Amino acid sequence: MTLRVGVCVSGRGSNLQAILDACHDGRLDARVVYVGSSRKSAPALDRAKAAGVPAEAFPPAANGGRDAAQQLMARRLVAADVELVVLAGYDRILADPFWDVLGGRVPVINIHPSLLPAFGGLNRLKVHDAVLAAGVAETGCTVHRAHRGMLDEGEILVQRRVPVLPGDDPETLEARVLGEEHEAIVDAVALFARRSVRV
Ligand code: GRF
Repeated sequence: MTLRVGVCVSGRGSNLQAILDACHDGRLDARVVYVGSSRKSAPALDRAKAAGVPAEAFPPAANGGRDAAQQLMARRLVAADVELVVLAGYDRILADPFWDVLGGRVPVINIHPSLLPAFGGLNRLKVHDAVLAAGVAETGCTVHRAHRGMLDEGEILVQRRVPVLPGDDPETLEARVLGEEHEAIVDAVALFARRSVRV
């Protein structure tokens, strides 16, 4: 049975696009049935619409604050009957009302642009700076389960490594990591589509 996936975004949406493409060309037995964004201006919303996926923005200011906005988004995900929620560049911590609506029935996964637990808790703009400042020889990306009250923690499902090369700046490093993210996120969704992960 084709896995029904909901995706939460805030920005560019390249990981969303990787999932949409993999569904479209048959690499994933999954379908993105709903996209929710924390920002109205997120280019990810256009990617969803171009793929014919219902997509809405829930800016906190227009929805009674962060908690109420996330609660509404969670209700839409549940109404869309999603079996998996993917946080693909969702830029906020999910507050209790979001988790209350999901009620523990739907697994949530997140993608982070480092080899967790290294460089957790930093947003995507800071993480590559921190990797370069630390002088490590490799970095990568991680897809992990997300849980109430946790940031960049939870069981690791997929990791992919990339080298840090001489002369890298945050932009070149981000581009290299992002390429691996697009593989990792598809591999992680595939675990659920194949029902290989028990919740
Ligand atoms: C990615 O680097 C992801 O790991 C992080 O935010 C970024 C989102 O990129 N959480 P995109 O919107 O999927 O292009």
